Amino acid sequence: MKVSDATRTRIAIRMTCAREMAALGERLAPPSVSAGPAGGDAEVRCEDGSEGLIAAALADFIRKHRCLPRSVSVEGQGLYAITPPRDGRLGGCVAVVTGSAQGFGKGIAGEMAAAGALIVVADLNAELGEAVAAELCDAHGKGAAVFCSANVTDRTSLEACVEATVAAFGGLDILVANAGVLKAGGIEEMDEAAFDLVTNVNYKGYFLCTQAVVPVMKRQHDLCADWFMDIVQVNSKSGLEGSRRNFAYAGGKFGGIGLTQSFALELVPFNIKVNSVCPGNFFEGPLWSDPERGLFVQYLQAGKVPGAKTLEDVREHYLALVPMHRGCSPRDVTVAILYLHDQQYETGQALPVTGGQVMLN
Ligand SMILES: NC(=O)c1ccc[n+]([C@@H]2O[C@H](COP(=O)([O-])OP(=O)(O)OC[C@H]3O[C@@H](n4cnc5c(N)ncnc54)[C@H](O)[C@@H]3O)[C@@H](O)[C@H]2O)c1
Repeated sequence: MKVSDATRTRIAIRMTCAREMAALGERLAPPSVSAGPAGGDAEVRCEDGSEGLIAAALADFIRKHRCLPRSVSVEGQGLYAITPPRDGRLGGCVAVVTGSAQGFGKGIAGEMAAAGALIVVADLNAELGEAVAAELCDAHGKGAAVFCSANVTDRTSLEACVEATVAAFGGLDILVANAGVLKAGGIEEMDEAAFDLVTNVNYKGYFLCTQAVVPVMKRQHDLCADWFMDIVQVNSKSGLEGSRRNFAYAGGKFGGIGLTQSFALELVPFNIKVNSVCPGNFFEGPLWSDPERGLFVQYLQAGKVPGAKTLEDVREHYLALVPMHRGCSPRDVTVAILYLHDQQYETGQALPVTGGQVMLN
């Protein structure tokens, strides 16, 4: 991935600030770094854009003044503004949540913003995605979230999204690889195009997202070795046990856990943890409850649930499969993500969030 000078500079500023403040006994939490206002007095000036010089000048300032500078001026690049980290369990973290224009992703983005993260809403759907980012800014303050157009099956769009993330906030600490699609169907009726779409988004898309974020995460590790980062894939209970007449989805989700375990082994030297969360069904979300295309409507029309005469009958059938007798919510999934983030002694796991419907052996 080609990384611009401005991207490298922002990362150097952000992680040097985190490292030096931690050395003074502050919580290890990086500030955000964005393009500064035109003009104004910069508190740190660097005569050239080399990362070593920027880091040295910043370290010098922080040790002398025992606080963060407000801005850094880099010759030939301009002014970078430094904003202290937000409070909260995810304060200091920049999180990209793919597929967060609706459904689980939207809810996860909201919960993570409430926990202090700066959020990049990365989705194909610009109209809904921009609205989600605007809602998050209304709820959590100006600049708490940005929308970034991204297609998880397209490497170029993902690289642009990573650049835009660093341009907005100065780094990238948590990838929630949530974007996913479902095309159910039995062996004889599944057409190849549907199989390819599901596999490309759910399986290959997870690889492409990981490939796009890792160079930034590794660079952050180089500059601040104690900082932990997370890649969390939103998998499914269908990644833990087979799903009848839904093999394209289940196969890709099983494969995702293979990627998680393998990425985890490769990235452990860089303090990048990689885990999957495996939710049960989100009955209130659009996938199930959309009045026209939702699975409740589809399953009623297809007679998939024997004896079901109403949408409520179909719903009750699926609820009865869950020992806790309710569906999975974005909050349930976020609680699992927050656990994986806090836990610094675990990686490569697939954590069920299914109300007891799937139990690990
Ligand atoms: N809904 C459930 O019951 C359920 C259960 C278990 C796991 N999951 C998983 O949770 C994740 C989210 O599912 P959901 O039900 O919220 O889905 P959803 O259909 O409600 O939302 C998916 C979002 O992903 C976006 N998207 C789709 N393809 C994309 C692409 N190529 N690039 C970028 N964005 C893309 C869509 O625009 C949409 O905003 C998926 O990975 C899914 O497999 C869902």
